[in-house]
Amino acid sequence: MEMECLITLEDIRKRVKELGVQISQDYRGKEPLMIGILNGVVFFFSDLILSLDIPVKIDFIRAASYGASMESSGDIKITKDVELPVSGQDIILVEDIIDTGLTLKVIEDRLRQRGASSVRICVLIDKGERRKEQIYIDYCGFKIDEGFLVGYGLDFNERYRYLPGIFKLKT
Ligand code: IMP
Ligand code: MG
Repeated sequence: MEMECLITLEDIRKRVKELGVQISQDYRGKEPLMIGILNGVVFFFSDLILSLDIPVKIDFIRAASYGASMESSGDIKITKDVELPVSGQDIILVEDIIDTGLTLKVIEDRLRQRGASSVRICVLIDKGERRKEQIYIDYCGFKIDEGFLVGYGLDFNERYRYLPGIFKLKT
């Protein structure tokens, strides 16, 4: 498939460090629980956590909605849940990309219901194009208006996650 590089690995790493500084300042004296939404988040999650200078706890959740398509089915299933206790924790929910917002909405509500003290959202990419849920994004790496993106963890039908940068598929 033809693709175009939108963000280089160097630019990603630079921006991720800035987010790390900001999060470290905001959570100074605390030990937040960072929850990564699998699988797309893996590279972003580890680079972000390594750029923090505060202690954190780490866990993962996995949700499925897209299957082999480029559009969210709207039907979000949790296929792997958080395992650490959520109640009373300051949570930072980390996602690779927000599109409709349905996935983050479902997961955020679930964590709040389980008694999280606070929930903030950190995304690498905010794709405003097809937003359906109004979600407040506390930490955002990049805003990209439209297109289907792959690389640095992001996939199209499980392909291209390994690419070192963010690329836009030409359809
Ligand atoms: P949402 O529920 O529509 O906000 O979609 C969120 C999920 O869809 C993300 O976790 C991604 O896995 C996937 N997704 C949305 N847009 C893209 C894209 O451009 N490339 C790859 N995955 C995407
Ligand atoms: Mg995802």
